[in-house]
Amino acid sequence: MAKRGPTYTCQACGAVYHRWQGKCDACGTWSSLTEEAQAAPVPGARGSSGKARGRVFALETLKGETQDAPRIVSRIGELDRVTGGGFVPGSVLLIGGDPGIGKSTLLMQACAALANSGQRVVYVSGEESTGQVRLRAERMGLADAPVDLAAETNVEDIIATLGQGQRPALVVIDSIQTMWSGEVESAPGTVTQVRGSAQSLIRYAKTSGACLILVGHVTKDGQIAGPRVVEHMVDAVLSFEGEGAHSFRVLRGQKNRFGATDEIGVFEMTGKGLSEVSNPSALFLAGRDQAAPGAAVFAGVEGTRPVLVEIQALVSPTSLGTPRRAVVGWENSRLAMVLAVLETHGGLRLGQHDVYLNVAGGLRVNEPAADIAVAAALVSSLTGAILPNESVYFGEVALSGAIRPVSVAAARLREAAKLGFGAAFLPSGGADFGDGGGLNLRRFGHVTELVADIAARAPRRDVK
Ligand code: TYD
Ligand code: MG
Repeated sequence: MAKRGPTYTCQACGAVYHRWQGKCDACGTWSSLTEEAQAAPVPGARGSSGKARGRVFALETLKGETQDAPRIVSRIGELDRVTGGGFVPGSVLLIGGDPGIGKSTLLMQACAALANSGQRVVYVSGEESTGQVRLRAERMGLADAPVDLAAETNVEDIIATLGQGQRPALVVIDSIQTMWSGEVESAPGTVTQVRGSAQSLIRYAKTSGACLILVGHVTKDGQIAGPRVVEHMVDAVLSFEGEGAHSFRVLRGQKNRFGATDEIGVFEMTGKGLSEVSNPSALFLAGRDQAAPGAAVFAGVEGTRPVLVEIQALVSPTSLGTPRRAVVGWENSRLAMVLAVLETHGGLRLGQHDVYLNVAGGLRVNEPAADIAVAAALVSSLTGAILPNESVYFGEVALSGAIRPVSVAAARLREAAKLGFGAAFLPSGGADFGDGGGLNLRRFGHVTELVADIAARAPRRDVK
């Protein structure tokens, strides 16, 4: 039998303790334990008295009848791309993002599009009044869409209401942190409540066949707040990202049981809601200063889609004992590695220099293929050499200094050619691209060659 009495739940990870302590042993967060009543047993589950006998069920084989349920397509192309071709009936999707990033806006647009196509859609807001939601819809010109709207927070009431009338195709709960269940004895907003409410709502989705979208808040360090267990309970987790100063937003799949997770959807926030961006490269490259040293265009790939972004580097003599390394949009550890390779194999002296690296436009690049674009930007900034106009870079740098081929190179070259680039710096290994789609292909096998090539363009002065 579990011990009775108060329990203390970590509000960051959901770990449960019988005594209060300052630091959660499970996730290392300080002051995150809150006293909560014990989580109620799952309704309908049998007690542990041992008397009840389990029900015998038939086992099945892997090869059996499966009905591929038709997807609910929102016709917002960028959204459907990330969900893997539309929402799956009976599935649950969690969408996280910073406050004000546009989650409610995106979901209202999806709801309106589905409702306009004749499906029943219910939007439950726990954060805003129906008046506020209506005002937003009006501003986006969606006020006429037949969306069923409610401002409610009690899960039992919501499920009872959803049971009335025609089964909805899509239910949006904005947000899961505001929901509370009468079956759970904890204050709203606590981990236990969030988990309990999510469990009830997910059970509703699975039994009714409606697609459920839960909105989740994100904590300062980018985790979906509340228990990580909600992420394990749902079928797909999407995150909606963007930089405050930029108007574009990226929807990214983190987990998806019904599709690939590496796709991104790109939107731009306008005065009339979010509009789709079908050519993200053009957006990320807008306003590029081509005549300055320290900038290199990386031909990246997000999911199946090539995306060109500008990598900017600034290498300047330091006034500090320990030089600074600051990165926005790329991994710190990856920059440290490229710097070490440039020092060891490229002969660069960077120990007395601060290094700043920025992925323009606010995109986050996760690919190692960006290594040589970063290296080129760094060498260019250090030497003052302006990189050749209209060229793109891609290739992975190994610790030995070798430049390794990367995947989907042909698509990267095609995108660069489409956007009017004239040359590509790429690894010497890998496939033969024929005429390179009209691009001048400059192949490199080792960083020393790349460094020499760039340094040769530097204005006359001692290269340190
Ligand atoms: P919202 O969807 O409420 O964000 P979230 O639900 O993620 O907290 O969007 C909030 C921001 O979006 C708000 O600061 C205003 C801006 N916005 C626009 O710029 N244009 C619009 O048409 C709408 C509806 C919102
Ligand atoms: Mg909102």
